[in-house]
Amino acid sequence: MKNIDKKSLEKAYRLFESNDIHKIEVGTTKGLMQIHDYLFEGLFDFAGKIRTSNISKGGIRFANSLYLQEVLLKIEKMPESNFEEIIAKYVEMNIAHPFLEGNGRTMRIWLDLILKMKLKQVVNWQCVDKTLYLQAMERSPVNDLELRTLLKANLSDKVNDREIIFKGIEQSYYYEGYKKEDDEE
Ligand SMILES: Nc1ncnc2c1ncn2[C@@H]1O[C@H](COP(=O)(O)OP(=O)(O)OP(=O)(O)O)[C@@H](O)[C@H]1O
Ligand SMILES: [Mg+2]
Repeated sequence: MKNIDKKSLEKAYRLFESNDIHKIEVGTTKGLMQIHDYLFEGLFDFAGKIRTSNISKGGIRFANSLYLQEVLLKIEKMPESNFEEIIAKYVEMNIAHPFLEGNGRTMRIWLDLILKMKLKQVVNWQCVDKTLYLQAMERSPVNDLELRTLLKANLSDKVNDREIIFKGIEQSYYYEGYKKEDDEE
């Protein structure tokens, strides 16, 4: 793991250990920016900042930066009253990919906050296989069935369980680094 990622991982632990996680706005762009800023402050000069250039990954071109602000306003208004709606919202946010780097790690925490508030559940990420997850994410702009099936099978009611939270963060950071050659140019 790169040094920058190790430092960010420590910040992620601190976000939960310090209870600062409770200060994050749930389900909004602002909340997403707050998480990104927390994880990458001092590491990326764009921490907490919406990108102003275009990026792509593994054949997908994420939302054009010219429309990003408008897209984000619409996404944060998407409903989140059941599991299907929450995943649909998560998929749209992934297609927006608002930051130059660190979207995946930021968004998985953002997703868990919504699931926790609305369904009293979180994803048990330590049980979500890296390859299956990334395949489901790649597929999700076309069809989110795979992603829904995978995450639904790994929901947990233990929303305050330290093991689930911290092992989950480790797993989320382990997803980073997958297919480095496909990283945005
Ligand atoms: N081809 C793809 N199509 C759609 N989404 C993708 C694709 N490849 C990766 N993703 C999503 O984008 C995330 C990676 O985005 P980014 O590199 O900005 O985030 P990261 O936090 O740095 O990395 P990671 O999520 O790997 O930890 C992946 O976790 C996955 O959720
Ligand atoms: Mg990355």
